[in-house]
Amino acid sequence: MISFQLNGEEVSVDVPPDTPLLWVIREELGLTGTKFGCGKGLCGACTIHMDGQATRTCVLPVVAATGRQVTTIEGLSKEGPTKLQKAWIEHGVPQCGYCQSGQIMQASSLLNNTKKPTDEEIDQAMSGNICRCGTYCKIKAAIKSAAEVQTGVSS
Ligand code: FES
Ligand code: FES
Repeated sequence: MISFQLNGEEVSVDVPPDTPLLWVIREELGLTGTKFGCGKGLCGACTIHMDGQATRTCVLPVVAATGRQVTTIEGLSKEGPTKLQKAWIEHGVPQCGYCQSGQIMQASSLLNNTKKPTDEEIDQAMSGNICRCGTYCKIKAAIKSAAEVQTGVSS
């Protein structure tokens, strides 16, 4: 058995230790907000937080999650949408939506680490999250809006 915290709840799974965490989250634990894109750690669709840091799950064996805090898009906030998610809605970011869970998890990790990121810091943090619909400009605008709300400082 491999045990970890998933969105604040202790979970245990009986799977081979090298099973990708993504498949455990989706297939064993039934949370399908985290998406499969490339399966090679290259697109960011499968991004979750592990101990608060953005982490790709398609290339991470589930055993690496043992005893850790895993947060998926479903567990990002227990009190309704976060400031970031509200900014996402205000800016109308999603198109097809497929990449968006990963984008929000990546952006949320950025704002946890850097309250008021520069344009360069946003570009760098988000560069590994691919959007086939090309929502990059709106993603950046939403991150900047959320940072302004978070810090009370406009750019
Ligand atoms: S599916 Fe994990 S990075 Fe693409
Ligand atoms: S919104 Fe369609 S892939 Fe990003």
